[in-house]
Amino acid sequence: MAVKVMQRQLSAVSGTSNSTLVSINAAFLQEIKDVHTELWDLLAGARDMCKHKLRSENDEHRLAADMEELRDLFALQFSLEEGFGYFDNPAFVDMNIAKRAEDLKNDHQYLYCEICEICDWIDKLRHHRRLPLKLKDVDIRFESFCDQLMKHEARENELIFDSFNNDIGSGD
Ligand SMILES: [Fe+2]
Repeated sequence: MAVKVMQRQLSAVSGTSNSTLVSINAAFLQEIKDVHTELWDLLAGARDMCKHKLRSENDEHRLAADMEELRDLFALQFSLEEGFGYFDNPAFVDMNIAKRAEDLKNDHQYLYCEICEICDWIDKLRHHRRLPLKLKDVDIRFESFCDQLMKHEARENELIFDSFNNDIGSGD
């Protein structure tokens, strides 16, 4: 048991520390991801739309509206994750988990800013009637966003898995 505790680098949080340490509630974080299927369906639809020609103003309107809905769903998703899946200053900290949790929590702001910028860009392109011409560029940027999002999700899922294992390991 003592070896296990040593291996997991458990450290009591110092009351004099100025830095905020972050941990996760693995069960809540997992549940938030499981229930938000609307976001993942909309994301798949938007990716698909960016790969096909926009044949009418209605198509352009639909792409812009879906991207804006996606942006709002990401705002909701990230705020739910940060409100219920992450928490600051736990009583005991696994330093490995804390570092990874802090990095992942910080990813949210960058990802949200990027989807906001993509929405603004689409709006400007529509305003100048250049969206059909620039759709390939929009697709490339949106795919880059999706790639970073998927990496974030994979790392968050690994963190959930490791956090569950740590909880089970500390039960004996
Ligand atoms: Fe996340």
